[in-house]
Amino acid sequence: MEKTIKQDEIVNFLKKYGFVFPCSEIYNGLANAWDYGPLGVLLKNNLKSLWWKYFITSKANMVGLDSAIFLNPNVWKASGHIESFSDPLIDCKHCKKRFRADKIINDQVKNAKINENSSLESLQKIIKENHIKCPNCQHEDWTEIRKFNLMFQTNQSIVKDKENTLYLRPETAQGIFINFNNIQRTSSLKLPFGVGQIGKSFRNEITPGNFIFRTREFEQMEIEFFCFPQQAAEFFNFFLNEINFFLLKKLKLNKEKIKTYEHPKNDLSHYAKRTIDFQYRFPHGWSELWGLSNRTDYDLLNHQKNSGKNLMYLDQKNGKKIIPYVIEPSVGVERLLYAIICDTFTYQKIKDNDYREVLCLSYELCPYKVAVLPLSVSLINDAKEIYQQILNANISATFATSGSIGKRYRKQDAIGTYYCLTIDFETANDQCVTVRHRDTMRQKRIKISEINNFLSKKMINE
Ligand code: GAP
Repeated sequence: MEKTIKQDEIVNFLKKYGFVFPCSEIYNGLANAWDYGPLGVLLKNNLKSLWWKYFITSKANMVGLDSAIFLNPNVWKASGHIESFSDPLIDCKHCKKRFRADKIINDQVKNAKINENSSLESLQKIIKENHIKCPNCQHEDWTEIRKFNLMFQTNQSIVKDKENTLYLRPETAQGIFINFNNIQRTSSLKLPFGVGQIGKSFRNEITPGNFIFRTREFEQMEIEFFCFPQQAAEFFNFFLNEINFFLLKKLKLNKEKIKTYEHPKNDLSHYAKRTIDFQYRFPHGWSELWGLSNRTDYDLLNHQKNSGKNLMYLDQKNGKKIIPYVIEPSVGVERLLYAIICDTFTYQKIKDNDYREVLCLSYELCPYKVAVLPLSVSLINDAKEIYQQILNANISATFATSGSIGKRYRKQDAIGTYYCLTIDFETANDQCVTVRHRDTMRQKRIKISEINNFLSKKMINE
């Protein structure tokens, strides 16, 4: 029997085992900020590596980039982020709490017909006409709604003035657009081709929350796929299928918890012509997991205009110069990680009053593929040799000696370790260990000399 998991249970579980800690905990924390512990960092790295391998290194026309977080501020002027990357902000004059006006309208007004492009005046009118109250103090005493730009600002060098203002990037995408010429020239790539990047992004979200779902500092895995304008629809569909395959077949997420949502034409980001989101059913409800947009030639055209540099692509087949269209699949690392945890965390009944927590991660994602467990203190040295043999083969492994073997199995199940290897009193005689599979709990004996091969094969077959 398995039960549905609540957000609090997941937060506590991830803290208990060292996946995710509240940030700055010894100073009473920092709201909506999280640190990734020893297991969290392994899982996160495995996820990023899986994405990178699937979308970048295993495809012929894909390359990678690692661009800077601080870019020339003109980049954000050209991209439209200074002008348009904002949310409607409203304050409660009574309790001084701040809210996203569109969010409190959607929460309190049934079928409110608002979207990304609704004017501030129309939102204000809805709040007034529906007597929307402050969710915190229940008063109806609002300020005017104003635009709140989501980009964090800081200053370069010691003088704090407008000239020195820098922005922490709110998306990794722009680093790719401004390097379009560099990448195309140095890699001799011909259209269609894509550039992928994994890196930190920052947004001064008005309403962060739901654990690691929406934070102000997060990582994105983005691809800007450049193609001829007439190929945009074809590659939009290509990536729709690719994302679907990655979620269902590579990450093995539950099909029932994933659906797509097409943004209506009047509810698109300032740069997009078409957007479809993959949504996931998180503990707080259905929400965006992964966005897929057709950004057209919007970004390259604007950078060409604002930089004065030629960003056209020469089609050698016919000598024509064009600005490529861009298809962009974009997903947050932590948001995807949260979906994976929600999907794989189970609380299983083994027999009466005997339950176990299991993180049913796919082999590639497991922080540890294997745990080496000596049955007794006298077997520690032999077990350590086997442990080192596994580490030498570059296979992520852990070693545990304390507690009964049953308790050690339970802990390894909880952190998602795929196999447990038990070294017992027979090992010295038969040169074999017992392998226990996390999900089935079935056990078998294998030769010590076969262990590395057995684990590596599993990796290849995943
Ligand atoms: N370059 C396009 C872009 O940034 P977006 O829909 O704003 O588009 C893409 O973001 C993805 O980044 C989202 O689908 C989500 O997975 C992740 N993301 C966005 N804001 C986030 C936040 N505040 N916290 C965590 N992840 C976020």
